[in-house]
Amino acid sequence: MFKRIPGTKDILPNEAAAWQKMEDTARNIFSLYNYRQIRLPLIEDASLFNRSLGESTEVVQKQMFLIRKEKDCYALRPEGTASVVRAYLENSLDRTEGFVKLYYTGAMFRMERPQKGRLRQFHHIGCEAIGSEAAQVDVEIIALADDLLKAFSVTGYEIRLNSLGCPKDKKGLVEKLRRYLKDKNDKLCQDCQERLKINVLRVLDCKNPACKETVAGLDIEDDRLCLECKEHFSIVKDGLELLGIAYKLSPHLVRGLDYYTRTVFEATHPDLGSQDALGAGGRYDNLVEELGGPRLGSCGFALGAERVLLASSLKPEAENTDLIYAIALTEEARKLTLRLLDDMRKAGIRCDSDYSGKSLKGMMRSANNAGARYVLIIGEDELKRSGVTLKDMSSGEQKELRTEDLPSELMRNVKIQNPK
Ligand code: HAM
Repeated sequence: MFKRIPGTKDILPNEAAAWQKMEDTARNIFSLYNYRQIRLPLIEDASLFNRSLGESTEVVQKQMFLIRKEKDCYALRPEGTASVVRAYLENSLDRTEGFVKLYYTGAMFRMERPQKGRLRQFHHIGCEAIGSEAAQVDVEIIALADDLLKAFSVTGYEIRLNSLGCPKDKKGLVEKLRRYLKDKNDKLCQDCQERLKINVLRVLDCKNPACKETVAGLDIEDDRLCLECKEHFSIVKDGLELLGIAYKLSPHLVRGLDYYTRTVFEATHPDLGSQDALGAGGRYDNLVEELGGPRLGSCGFALGAERVLLASSLKPEAENTDLIYAIALTEEARKLTLRLLDDMRKAGIRCDSDYSGKSLKGMMRSANNAGARYVLIIGEDELKRSGVTLKDMSSGEQKELRTEDLPSELMRNVKIQNPK
């Protein structure tokens, strides 16, 4: 027996209904905000992520699934932002469209230690607004994330907000942190001792209690931001207040990817345990330029679909189209059934049969399990009369229909819900 790789999931049909509902809902809400869908490859040149996310980030250092082929090195995408910017530039959208709003849904891959809410293959519902430095775009992005979570029936989450400032401000914070932590090496967890050398900002949002306590004493004031970044952040905060979106200022929120500048945010949920981020995002004003394009401000976020489903009470709707189930009692009837089902499907009527040759009672049970509204019984008598017996599964009422143009016969005799 083969088993799935740890950290991957089989989404079986009864769970898939919730996924479909979530994806349909997301499509509607993205459209309200005028985002258009972009579909991108699952594999990219690994160096795209090294350059975008940063060589020293944990995703690049430890979590990429790499495929080497001669001189090439590909990566299964660990996130979507870098690919969207790559596609934006490669397809010259900077010249043909300028400011674009794009959304995507799909699988991402990270070689992590699997646990609740932490998978090796997971799914993002994300979006990127590329080509604007306006702070109102940040507000709209956070409002959109908030609207999505509400539409997914998630309650009790918190939006944490911070500004990292421009690269110069970020550098100032790194230096301040380095000075502060200079003689506190032994108070930090093993990972943070590593981070001190390569990615010191991450010490700020480490979940280890000892690290939290160590950095708690560091005063991170808004005055580390330059005038323009401070102004930008004020507009974001005012905008969120204007729209009635609750947020918590979190000066220690730094995010794990290097491309962020200015606004960063995260939506967390207390029921998710240690992996409590439902989604996260922020502004990345240097990435387009970093990947060879012009200087264009951008902003986006991604929700983790599996975590959203863990926290949501989203109820998928039951199938609202009537199912007709054909029961063929003889070999000849089975042959005819194939054609009748084909006629009905072409007329947009949802129908099925298991062609099993079981007893009538056994097949009635199968029809019931399949949720059929009506059954069509085709036995020797029916064949002789070129007809079928139609039975209403709830009332037990029976009628004889002619097989000639069965779809019209059906529509005339019973009201079928939602033929397609
Ligand atoms: P991220 O924070 O790395 O950001 O991922 C976004 C969300 O994906 C997380 O908040 C979490 O819900 C989910 N997630 C991440 N890793 C896993 C995992 N191993 N298992 C299950 N869920 C996971 C990004 O990827 C950025 N690209 C977001 C963004 C878009 N920023 C700007 N634009």
